[in-house]
Amino acid sequence: MTTGVCWLDGRIQPLAGARVPVLDHGLLYGDGVFEGIRFYFGRPFLLGDHLERLRRSARAIALACPWSDDELARIVGEVVAAFGEPEGYIRLVVTRGEGPLGIDPAPCTTPRLIVIAARLEMVNHAHRQTGVCLVTAATRRLPPDGLDPRIKSLNYLNHILARIEANAAGADEAVLLNTRGQVAEGTADNLFIVRSGSLLTPPVTDGALEGITRRLVMELAEEEGIPVREQSLGPWDLHTAEECFLTGTGAELVPVREIDGRPLPACPGPLYRRCNEAFRTFIQRECGGSRP
Ligand SMILES: Cc1ncc(COP(=O)(O)O)c(C=O)c1O
Repeated sequence: MTTGVCWLDGRIQPLAGARVPVLDHGLLYGDGVFEGIRFYFGRPFLLGDHLERLRRSARAIALACPWSDDELARIVGEVVAAFGEPEGYIRLVVTRGEGPLGIDPAPCTTPRLIVIAARLEMVNHAHRQTGVCLVTAATRRLPPDGLDPRIKSLNYLNHILARIEANAAGADEAVLLNTRGQVAEGTADNLFIVRSGSLLTPPVTDGALEGITRRLVMELAEEEGIPVREQSLGPWDLHTAEECFLTGTGAELVPVREIDGRPLPACPGPLYRRCNEAFRTFIQRECGGSRP
């Protein structure tokens, strides 16, 4: 059981005992949105960006989010303080709330806010050093006219199916292609490759979530003088890449050593190392240091 704390229905409680009513439409239909946020040195990392994306996701599914950014930041701060550890992961969830059986959200008049703080080891320490193995999943990323990938909703079944494929293949993570066969993203992370000294990542229009870590890595790479651009990628690009790595709040930056049984020439490669170092320095600058 994950140890942690949870803000639910107005009070902080141990995670182990926190319960959501079975008629919550977040549970019944995946009707809700969420954010995963890291905290380092006791401070939430890029909280403003996460709250902005949460609000956009909520608006996109016509879900009321009656808590102001200040209120959300205060609750997040209280949950982090109650958790008591300097580093960890926050899961901020807004569900449609309770309603009768049936998918109609109209009778659900009171959205529910859940804020969890816990430890997260999405990628183990050894894998961070040696790299992870990817497989291309047969499960395709849903097209944007089915569900816009920019909406960070509680519907992850598409990704879970891809992850089941990765597990069955003995791999660590799956790559989802879009319906045109282009690389979209991992199950909970964005993807970068290196070719001829440049960093390439698929445009979000190819089916990826607008990753906050992805954007930061692109900015940091630019500052480092590393050429970086968005470009549609196919399996061939993955199989012939010089390097590959994944980015995400949970994942942070993870080097990839093998894709579909093809070892990559460098893992962790030199550009991964530079980006990861710049990322760590940025965290230290944003969250480290003395409190005001
Ligand atoms: C599907 C998906 N793609 C990408 C990401 C990475 O996004 P971020 O860097 O904002 O955490 C996530 C993170 O949860 C995700 O769920």
